[in-house]
Amino acid sequence: MSLLDLASKRHSPRAFDGSALTWDDLADGFEAARLSSSSYNNQPWRFVVALRGEAGFDALLETAVEANRTWMKDAGAIVGVMSSTVLEKTGEPDHAALLGVGMAVGAMELAFTESGLASMQAGGFDRSAYKALLHLPDHILPVSLLAVGRVPEGHAPGSKARKSLSDIAFRVGDDIR
Ligand SMILES: Cc1cc2nc3c(=O)[nH]c(=O)nc-3n(C[C@H](O)[C@H](O)[C@H](O)COP(=O)(O)O)c2cc1C
Repeated sequence: MSLLDLASKRHSPRAFDGSALTWDDLADGFEAARLSSSSYNNQPWRFVVALRGEAGFDALLETAVEANRTWMKDAGAIVGVMSSTVLEKTGEPDHAALLGVGMAVGAMELAFTESGLASMQAGGFDRSAYKALLHLPDHILPVSLLAVGRVPEGHAPGSKARKSLSDIAFRVGDDIR
C-alpha cells in the first residue's frame, strides 16, 4: 500500500473487537517509531506497552477519562506515549521533543495500519494518576494513550473531516491564519 493509501486508511475507530495482541503484532509499529527522525537525534519518544489481559492494561485504562474508557477497554493493547524533555547530549531542554514524539507516533500508526491493525490516540487521561502509576521522573512528560487493536466486523470508518490545502499552506506575503 502506498503512503497516501495508508494515510487515507488510518482512522480513529472508537471501537475495537476485544481480541488480544502480542508483541509481535506491534513489532512493525515500534520499528517505524524507532527509525523516526528527531532534533539532535535525541529520540525523545518513550513508550510503555500493556497487552490486553495484563494487569498493566487495566491500570493504564483506569487513567483514561470515562468517555475514552468506553472504547479503549476493547483494545488489544494500550501504549502510553511519553516524551523526554531533555537533550541527552547537553542536559538542556529539548524544545523539539513533542514534534519528534509526534513524528514517531505518526510513523507507528501508519505501520500498524499496514499490519492490518487500527489505532487511536487519546489525550483525555489523568496525567497525575498516570505519572504516579509509572513513577515517572520529572523530565518524562505523559503525552497520550494510544489504543491498538482490531476493529469489529462490519466497522465502517467515518469520513475524513479536514481543512483544505488553501487553509493550511501559504505563500510568503499571504495572511497566514
Ligand atoms: C494527540 C491526540 C489526542 C487525541 N485525543 C482524543 C481523545 O481524548 N478522545 C477522542 O475521542 N479522540 C481523540 N483523538 C482523536 C481525534 O479526534 C482524531 O484523530 C481526529 O478527529 C481525526 O480523525 P481520524 O484520526 O479518524 O482521522 C486524539 C488524536 C490525537 C492525535
